[in-house]
Amino acid sequence: MANLKIGFIGCGGIANQKHLPGMKGMEGVDLCAFCDLIIERAEKAAKEYGTPDAKVYTDYKELLADPTIDAVHVLTPNIAHCEITVAALEAGKHVLCEKPMAATPEDAQKMLDARDRTGKMLTIGYQYRHFPENQVAKKVVDEGLLGDIYYAEATYLRRRGVPTWGVFTDKSKQGGGPLIDIGTHCLDFTLFLMNNYDVDYVVGTSFEKLGRILDAEHQGQVNWMGKHDTWNHETYDVEDSAVGFIKMKNGATIVLRAAWAINMAEDYGASNSAFTMLAGTKGGLDTKEGRVRLNHVVASYPTISWVGNKVAGYIPGFSQGPAPKSKEHEIWVKALKGEGELFVTADQAFVVTKILDAIYQSSKTGKPVYF
Ligand SMILES: NC(=O)c1ccc[n+]([C@@H]2O[C@H](COP(=O)([O-])OP(=O)(O)OC[C@H]3O[C@@H](n4cnc5c(N)ncnc54)[C@H](O)[C@@H]3O)[C@@H](O)[C@H]2O)c1
Repeated sequence: MANLKIGFIGCGGIANQKHLPGMKGMEGVDLCAFCDLIIERAEKAAKEYGTPDAKVYTDYKELLADPTIDAVHVLTPNIAHCEITVAALEAGKHVLCEKPMAATPEDAQKMLDARDRTGKMLTIGYQYRHFPENQVAKKVVDEGLLGDIYYAEATYLRRRGVPTWGVFTDKSKQGGGPLIDIGTHCLDFTLFLMNNYDVDYVVGTSFEKLGRILDAEHQGQVNWMGKHDTWNHETYDVEDSAVGFIKMKNGATIVLRAAWAINMAEDYGASNSAFTMLAGTKGGLDTKEGRVRLNHVVASYPTISWVGNKVAGYIPGFSQGPAPKSKEHEIWVKALKGEGELFVTADQAFVVTKILDAIYQSSKTGKPVYF
């Protein structure tokens, strides 16, 4: 079988942190096309990760016109996910698109329709599902140790941790702030753990309180990577925190919290991770800093168990280690070769996008959004 030919559209932060190192060296795969509006980024990526004859582009349509390309990774700001993914599917390519699936449910629907029309594969880059503690938590849930899960908390909070590269604070490019950027991860793996995508209604609030304030602390935030930096307070136009109340059709309820900036003593930002807490009729669990803590009853005693103690090989951020990103790409390449199934389905990611949008809508109107 000839090597699969892969193209990359968007050669910025996530391309260099996750996709290019994650895909390089995969057996049976040639990284042979690189596109970015900033040509130097495409050239650098081609040089560092591409085949000797790799091509570079500034117009993604030219890349898609190459009939030898089998699949593309869409790694641009959120607002462009839909247009590029739909065009890629129509051009006969399989697509791995970064999270969130799209900036709006309407865009996400167009992507689903294009997938169904073309019969090509579409998956979304939710690598947190591959974190060891989330894999272990999934096993605990699937073994029935929690019973019927009726309540969950999905959390991704940074006391201060506004991304200062790219266009993350620009609503016209991203569609929103921390909710759509990091809330999307913890919501995705909480739904995945619960295996429940049947939403009844959503209520939420998104706050725009701190993003535009220029005080001493904000000028020199120590972000979640321990670095001092700041963001442009004049152009910042997304929320800085958000909370959602998600009622599922079976009555189960999820509270979702996401922040890049919030005055909260409990700073989850240090480990730059996303957490979930699940409460079921037989027991509960939470994931934090690489651990899965099960609370249950043993011999009539309320008991806390650390499942697998500290999960071997946990990596507190995908950029600090190879495991989750390699897993994501291994599964993707296997699916491309026809040797396995996609792990993150676009249908699941669509529900995440719908919920996030409903929180924004509910915040504007003060009303619940019924599904
Ligand atoms: N999975 C994760 O944990 C994770 C982490 C960070 C970012 N992301 C996602 O990845 C995407 C990109 O984020 P980033 O941090 O890499 O941003 P970035 O700004 O660093 O990189 C995006 C790149 O896309 C290029 N680009 C923009 N429009 C383009 C177009 N039409 N054609 C070709 N290139 C174009 C830009 O020039 C830029 O180089 C976003 O959707 C973001 O949500 C995911």
